[in-house]
Amino acid sequence: MSFDLVLFGGTGDLTWRKLMPALFQAFRHGTLPAEGRIIGVGRDNLSNEQYREQIHARFDHVELAKRPSEEEFKRFAALLEFVQMDLSKPDDYAKLAAALAQRNADTVVMYVATAPTLFTTVCEQLAAAGLNTPQTRVVLEKPLGHDLASNRAINETVGKVFGEKQVFRIDHYLGKPAVQNLFALRFGNALFEPLWRREHIANIQITIAEDLGVEKRGGFYETTGALRDMVQNHALQLLCAIGMEPPINSHADAIRDEKLKVLRSLKPWTAETLSQDVIRGQYSAGTSGGAPVAAYREEAGVNPKSHTETFVALRTEISNWRWAGVPFYIRTGKRLAGRDARIVINFRPTPHAIFNSQIGDANRLVINLQPKDGLELHLLAQGQDNRRVSQKLSPVQLDLDFDKRFGSERVGAYERLLLDVIDGRLNLFVRSDEQEEAWRWVEPILDYWQADSQGPRLYNAGTWGPSASSAMIARDGFCWSEEN
Ligand code: BG6
Repeated sequence: MSFDLVLFGGTGDLTWRKLMPALFQAFRHGTLPAEGRIIGVGRDNLSNEQYREQIHARFDHVELAKRPSEEEFKRFAALLEFVQMDLSKPDDYAKLAAALAQRNADTVVMYVATAPTLFTTVCEQLAAAGLNTPQTRVVLEKPLGHDLASNRAINETVGKVFGEKQVFRIDHYLGKPAVQNLFALRFGNALFEPLWRREHIANIQITIAEDLGVEKRGGFYETTGALRDMVQNHALQLLCAIGMEPPINSHADAIRDEKLKVLRSLKPWTAETLSQDVIRGQYSAGTSGGAPVAAYREEAGVNPKSHTETFVALRTEISNWRWAGVPFYIRTGKRLAGRDARIVINFRPTPHAIFNSQIGDANRLVINLQPKDGLELHLLAQGQDNRRVSQKLSPVQLDLDFDKRFGSERVGAYERLLLDVIDGRLNLFVRSDEQEEAWRWVEPILDYWQADSQGPRLYNAGTWGPSASSAMIARDGFCWSEEN
C-alpha cells in the first residue's frame, strides 16, 4: 500500500517535536508502509534537501535512544519532500496537487498541524483544488475551535468537504498505551465489571499534572487556558473511557456512541455548582525540580495581569443508572508538584469492620498513565511488623508495571495514531458530536469565569495547586490520592 502524508505546518513545532520523531519510530520498527512519502508544507522556500537537513538537526531535541543513526536518517530522509505554499493563496494548492499527482498514492493523508484559524481555509482550498478525493483522509489537531460555536463552524465546513469517516480528530491521550490498557482492563476482563458502578465505587479522581510551565507557548496559552487545553479534550476523554458502557463491538462508532452517551449524561452546571465545584488557579513563582521558576504572569507572551488559568480542579457526576451520585473529580495544571497522570478509583470501604484496627487506606485501583504506565491495586493485608497485635491490617500494593512487562520500546501515542490514520482506523479519534458535546459542557464554565472579575487563585509553582482544590474534595469527605 502506498501513501502520501502531507504535513501542513511542516516546519512547525508539532512537526519536529512529535510527528517526525513518531514517524521515524514507525519507520525504524518497520511498521510504516515502505511505499510512502512525507511531504512537509510550509511558507519557507526550501529545497527537499534543505528540508531534510532541517528535520535532521531537530532530532537533537529527541531522547538519545530515539534518535536516528546517520545511516538510518539517510534512509528515512528518502521519504521526505517539501512543498512551499502560502496556505491562504488558492494558487499554491496547485503545487501540492502536482506533487501528489506524480505518485497517485493509494492513501493521501492531509495532516493539518497549523493554527486552528487555518483549518477551514485549508479544507476549502483542498476541495477547490480537487484534492478531497475518496482516498484522502484529513487529520485535525486540537484545539478545534475555542468554544461551541467556533467548533461547530469548523466541523460544518470540514463536513462539506470530507465525509465524517475521512476526518481524524486527534486527541493524543487516546493513543497513549495506558489508555489502550484501560480499555483492555475494562472490556477484556470480567473481573472488575461487577464492581464498576455506584454500589461499589465511592469516587473517581482523574489527575493530569505537569511540572513544566507554558514554555515558549505563552502567546497560545494566554487565549487558551487549562480548561480548553486539557479538560475539554484529554481529561473528558479519560472520563469517558472510565465511565462508558461496554460497546457492542470494537468498531469505531460503537465505541464513540458510548463515549457520546457519557458526555450527554454529565450533570449540567448550576450557579451553585459553578461557584462551588470548579476551581481555577494560576501559578506564581516557585520551584520546579529544585530550581526557582517564574510566575505565569512573567512568562514571555503573557499579559502581566493575566486571568488565564493554568490549573483547573472540578467535580462532576455522570447522571445515569451506573454512576448516579458518584463524584468524578478532574484536576489538571502546569507547574504542579510533578509530571504525574493517573486515574484513581476509590472503592467503598467494607460495610462492617471485624479487624481491630487498620492503618492507611486501601480498596483502591490506580491506573498510572505517566510517567509510569501501569496498574496498582491497593489492598489491606496482615503484615509481620507487629507480632503482638495480630488483627492489625496494613496497606499493601499489587503493582503491574507495563513498561517492565512489555518492554519500554512500546508504540508511542503519535506513532500509534499516525499509523491508524494511514490504515484508516478511526477507533482512537474523536467524532464531531463527541467534540461538540464536550464544548457544550465546558462552555458554562468559560462564561462564568468571564463574568467573574476575581480571576484565578494563585498557587506556588511546584505544589498541587490552590488549597481550594483540596477544600472542594474535602467537602464530600474525601481527599486527593496524594493527601492520604
Ligand atoms: C497538549 C497540550 O495537548 O498536551 C499541552 O496542549 C500539554 O499544553 C500536553 O503539555 C500534555 O501532553 P503529554 O502527553 O505530555 O501529557
